Amino acid sequence: MNPKPAVPRPTVAELILDLEQRLAAGGIFCGHGTDNPRDEAASMVFHLMALSHDDDRAYARPVPEPVQQRLEELIEKRVRERIPAPYLLKEAWFAGLCFHVDHRVLIPRSPFAELIGSGFAPWLRPASVERILEIGTGSGCIAIACAMAFPHSTVVATDISAQALEVAAINRARHGLEQRIELLQTDIFVGVEGQFDLIVTNPPYVPEQEISRLPAEYRHEPELALVSGPDGMESPRRILQDAAQYLTDHGLLAIEVGAGSQVLEDAFPNVPFVWPEFEQGGSGIALAWKHDLPDSETAER
Ligand SMILES: C[S@@+](CC[C@H](N)C(=O)[O-])C[C@H]1O[C@@H](n2cnc3c(N)ncnc32)[C@H](O)[C@@H]1O
Repeated sequence: MNPKPAVPRPTVAELILDLEQRLAAGGIFCGHGTDNPRDEAASMVFHLMALSHDDDRAYARPVPEPVQQRLEELIEKRVRERIPAPYLLKEAWFAGLCFHVDHRVLIPRSPFAELIGSGFAPWLRPASVERILEIGTGSGCIAIACAMAFPHSTVVATDISAQALEVAAINRARHGLEQRIELLQTDIFVGVEGQFDLIVTNPPYVPEQEISRLPAEYRHEPELALVSGPDGMESPRRILQDAAQYLTDHGLLAIEVGAGSQVLEDAFPNVPFVWPEFEQGGSGIALAWKHDLPDSETAER
């Protein structure tokens, strides 16, 4: 008797196209690391098969049955429960680096990745950056990417959420940066000591009323990481008001406020903010130097 012929396995390319169609038909929202269903399907297949994007033959590889079954389960969960893919995979990429993520932290996606990748050129000279403060570190992705971009620096990375700092500690250890990144649980600047050459922050900036209008995927992220008062600018305003005293003489504040740029400009009309443009997409990051920021004694309130 002839043995049963083996059923041909779908290739990586074929499975990605199939999953893409199902994600699109399921009406998912992309925006947590990818911006279209095909890239999202590819991220899942590549992750589960531990494939490298540098592998020229990756797309032609056959997908083993157990991997396909696991993908079926994940796609079902993704569509039915609207859980963003990085939470399902427990992994997100930022500035070319891989991070553990779960429901305790926002999924990394800030346009800061591009600024960090360029060493904040032309606004900073890498050799001049010795101390960095990140406010609201979440998974630690920005603090870790900054520590790598400025190899002579030390970083203080704060967050009000103890749970977020647990995840930041996982990622700090994963990247071997325990000696250069200090994690501190605090509210904005409370208990922060000394001055910094760079303060980098993407605090929560979504207005309270808007959160319920966002796609369902956002409701899996910590509300503390997203919402900041009636106009979204509660945390950004507090940071702007006090940043000057935590900056060295030539220190730079880089703060992301997303769509809140006009609210920020109106709140601080005397600060000549610089708004960098991004080649890889995104906007809403303001730069301001210490000497242009409100003096904390006479701050605009
Ligand atoms: C938009 S998330 C950014 C997380 C991370 N930097 C990233 O890019 O993925 C904002 C972070 O700020 C933290 N946060 C919110 N309010 C804060 C406060 N008053 N003081 C310090 N951190 C705060 C949140 O817990 C959250 O981790």
